[in-house]
Amino acid sequence: MGMIFLYICTTYIHNRITTMTKTNLLLLTTAVAAILTGCGSSSSPVAEIDPALQFNPDGGVMKSITLPGGQTINYQAYEGIFYVTNVEDSTYQTLNIYVPEGADSNSPILLRTYAGGYMASTAKAPAATDASGRALAEGMVVCIPGSRGWNSCIRNDSNTVYTGRGASSILDLKAAIRYLHANDDVMPGNADRIFTDGTSAGGAMSALMGATGNSPDYLPYLEAMGAANARDDVYAAICYCPMLDLDNADMGYEWLYACTNDKVRALSPELKKVSEELAAAFPDYLNSLNLTNPKDGTPITIDNYTDYVKSFIIASAQRARNEGCDIPDDIGIINNNSESAPESGREAPMFGPGGVMFARQPGEFIIDVDLDVYLNYVASTIKLKNPPAFDPAGIEGQNPSPENLVFGDATGSFTNYSKYSTAANGVEISDELAATVHMMNPMYYIEDEQSVTAQHWYIRHGARDRDGSFCTPINFATKLDNAGYNVDFALPWNRPHSGDYNLDDLFRWIHSVAD
Ligand code: DHB
Repeated sequence: MGMIFLYICTTYIHNRITTMTKTNLLLLTTAVAAILTGCGSSSSPVAEIDPALQFNPDGGVMKSITLPGGQTINYQAYEGIFYVTNVEDSTYQTLNIYVPEGADSNSPILLRTYAGGYMASTAKAPAATDASGRALAEGMVVCIPGSRGWNSCIRNDSNTVYTGRGASSILDLKAAIRYLHANDDVMPGNADRIFTDGTSAGGAMSALMGATGNSPDYLPYLEAMGAANARDDVYAAICYCPMLDLDNADMGYEWLYACTNDKVRALSPELKKVSEELAAAFPDYLNSLNLTNPKDGTPITIDNYTDYVKSFIIASAQRARNEGCDIPDDIGIINNNSESAPESGREAPMFGPGGVMFARQPGEFIIDVDLDVYLNYVASTIKLKNPPAFDPAGIEGQNPSPENLVFGDATGSFTNYSKYSTAANGVEISDELAATVHMMNPMYYIEDEQSVTAQHWYIRHGARDRDGSFCTPINFATKLDNAGYNVDFALPWNRPHSGDYNLDDLFRWIHSVAD
């Protein structure tokens, strides 16, 4: 009865408000649905779900997983579910759902993507050693979708068609989220409590899922794919070393690592020139972000940015020291040896409970970091990327990166996409490419009023991770904080490029925001 009234109501609205975007209409009808049902489940389907996208509660099989601590969890596994009706690539456009014993319609959902290297990823089973297995033990429903990427392809007649170029990966993941929302009433798990999780390119995907909820930019593509007619916003995003802000990231990488060019990095004169040109463009970019320090609201400009970056490394080293870690004397971390705390002012902003702890012993206060020494140390543990780190194709004869390939097309081509590399190679950025680059950059959606951005963010980038510069996650976390979102951000000590570590921290955080 409610649904019939809802249908009449939404049809009336649709006929009356012809100038509304479809997304606005979707949001309005969703709101009407929430009022009609009078409950918190605002993700009730507002339109008939295509039968091909209906979750079958009886379709599960019982399985179990044993975690490293010996705990065994039984769960229902629903696998190989297509999340779009116009399936282009049946290898990747499916999702798996895992429901542990005891989960109900209120249980939060962990959506874990295993996308990496901007490559395709199949839907997977939960793993005992990462957040997916742990989430089952914590009573969460787990969804692991596959998604297309730069290397996914199909044979069409005698041609190879690359299916995962452009924004295909995030479109697939958004289609999976829509499946969860559309089926919220019949599926265990609460689609209003979706936590996305991914690492590196997957961290960028998690950031995109978190930032771009319901954005109209993706709508025509999602419709063409046959995604469910439902919301695609999420509650929280967990991003480990997210490789994002791709069209700007090269500048920050060179600005940060310039001090290594004549030292451990030993760049050729030609590449050093590239590095210097990119680094010189960073201040304008940084200033254009108009960031403010979450600690005291002071504007962050290139004049105080070095201190700002340092504050996160100092906080990282301090936490490691507090937890008993030995930090070598020769890697640029500077202690004071007095009995008391240093004048405050250098601590990183408290981006949540993962930040600085103050139970320090005399002589254990870290007061500074010599960035030159520290960054040369980082670069000595793993070779830096050559400049440009993300958009190198054709610059001084370099090969395409995964990013150059993902922005290529269905023929398997690659392309430059950043201002610097397109100018250097005399390549035009077409409107279509510009739109794709935009859709792949969550930075542009944080303050976009047409998108619904997740309320809660857990962002980690290892303090020894050189795949991307520290500038990218610092800017991203700060922008989210400045826009009013709840951000727990840190650069964990001695961590290289990796994800799903320190699961105790992660799940403490999840519980703190889920309830
Ligand atoms: C990944 C690593 C990179 O260095 C990069 O540029 C893009 C993605 C990854 O591990 O996913």
